[in-house]
Amino acid sequence: MATISIPTASSAATPSASTAAAYDDVVVRNFSIAAVVWGVVGMLVGVFIAAQLTWPELNFGIPWLSYGRLRPLHTNAVVFAFGGCTLMGTSYYVVQRTCQTKLFSAKLAAAHFWGYQLVIVAAAISLPLGFTRGKEYAELEWPIAILLAVVWVIYAIVFFGTVGIRKVRHIYVANWFYGSFIIAVALLHIVNGAVIPVSLTKSYSAYAGVQDAMVQWWYGHNAVGFLLTAGFLGMMYYFIPKQADRPIYSYRLSIVHFWALIFTYMWAGPHHLHYTALPDWAQSVGMVFSLVLLAPSWGGMINGVMTLSGAWHKLRDDPILKFLIVSLSFYGMATFEGPMMSIKTVNSLSHYTDWNIAHVHSGALGWVGLISIGSLYYLIPRMFGQKQMFSVRAIDLHFWIATIGIVLYIAAMWIAGVMQGLMWRAVNPDGTLAYSFVEGVKATYPFYMVRLAGGLLYLGGMLVMVWNVWKTASHGRYVPVRIPMAVVPAAAHA
Ligand code: HEM
Ligand code: HEM
Repeated sequence: MATISIPTASSAATPSASTAAAYDDVVVRNFSIAAVVWGVVGMLVGVFIAAQLTWPELNFGIPWLSYGRLRPLHTNAVVFAFGGCTLMGTSYYVVQRTCQTKLFSAKLAAAHFWGYQLVIVAAAISLPLGFTRGKEYAELEWPIAILLAVVWVIYAIVFFGTVGIRKVRHIYVANWFYGSFIIAVALLHIVNGAVIPVSLTKSYSAYAGVQDAMVQWWYGHNAVGFLLTAGFLGMMYYFIPKQADRPIYSYRLSIVHFWALIFTYMWAGPHHLHYTALPDWAQSVGMVFSLVLLAPSWGGMINGVMTLSGAWHKLRDDPILKFLIVSLSFYGMATFEGPMMSIKTVNSLSHYTDWNIAHVHSGALGWVGLISIGSLYYLIPRMFGQKQMFSVRAIDLHFWIATIGIVLYIAAMWIAGVMQGLMWRAVNPDGTLAYSFVEGVKATYPFYMVRLAGGLLYLGGMLVMVWNVWKTASHGRYVPVRIPMAVVPAAAHA
């Protein structure tokens, strides 16, 4: 089986006589720090809305503290601000190392960073004020959406420009995943963003009825597929081999994984619209492609996990590897559960219930969160001229608090979700409903408390991370890392 050799951490970090320019890492450092800050903000809002579901009076009668406004603030902050900044920072780090070159343009990269932060701040102000397009994960009103499109084009120019000026022939697989994320998100954002503005703060979708719903969920599902999955798989293909100091288990599998995944994801969106006005055949297409998606998803997961084969002992003492590898087990769980939920009969039970929330957070906290945190722990010390984080024990502590938090969160929501689905469909012998809706809400209450505890733990882990990052940054300083001329990465792909 073909393997790939990418430059080791030490080769990339050691300046030598044969070195030329330094990598453009300022933007990597900025995005990494921004990711940690937005992660804390987004999760704090998550904990707050989880508390509101337990104690609704926590909105204090203030409109901008109401659940309906804070929920999209949470999803935007964690997905686009925390997830987005992690993806952008790591992609700039990885593309330079694997292409053995500086960024195409450091100035454009800086414009990308500040432009993206402006979008985030605009979202954080406009969403609580109640300005929204009302489409899930695409709430931002048209002026902010246009700004985002411009920033995204700059990102694409810098990323693909860097690939274009690479010093090695081969384009390492991580860049394929990052690249597909950049192209697909642009496509989704522009197509689903088509609106007719009626004022600066209000617009209406260019589509109507069931077409509007289909475009929205083509967008929504592929946002999961390309933002919450493909980009993070790019991270997996770089940071797991680096941290484990092993080549990818199978480079050939990684190529099959890439093409199979991006082809299949595009068709699965209709599983969000089962039992709606969407034609039945379209729902079935969504279901079938979702079932097929299990194969590339698990192929990729196995490729990542098996990279550790022969080096399993490293998991015992390396907390960064724990983050990276355990994230893959949650990825495996979420991508097994997703295809099951897309089966129409299963979906008739799961849809509208907290089972969805369990599925979302096993993917979000388990996969996206843990792989991001692991990669950031790898990256941040290198951005401050340090070999490792200030406290490795604190990374371990973070890992355990976060993992216990996830388990509490998702187990509570699974039980609550299945219970809700069963209560809603239970009927008496005379055909009347066995339970009123309020009885279902009441029965869910204890599980909301457990979820809140899980969320608090996960947030607590992030606060440990903030302390550790602060200490690492204040003990180190930014040292430009030189580009080694002699290392030929990714050469053994044939
Ligand atoms: C401390 C951690 C977190 C807590 C306490 C939390 C809590 C919540 C709550 C209470 C909801 C609303 C559930 C409902 O409406 O019934 C929610 C929704 C959501 N959260 Fe989180 N969350 C956390 C972290 C994250 C992270 C890290 C991500 C993504 C990377 C994420 C992504 C989402 C998404 C996508 C939804 C919408 C789900 C849907 O509409 O089905 N969350 N979260
Ligand atoms: C093979 C992969 C996957 C499949 C086939 C899949 C399938 C599904 C299905 C059937 C639903 C429920 C739709 C509904 O009843 O409305 C769903 C919801 C969701 N999934 Fe997945 N899933 C997969 C992986 C993931 C992963 C890895 C993540 C996160 C990182 C994720 C995030 C979400 C989100 C955020 C929602 C809620 C959407 C909403 O209603 O707001 N999924 N998924």
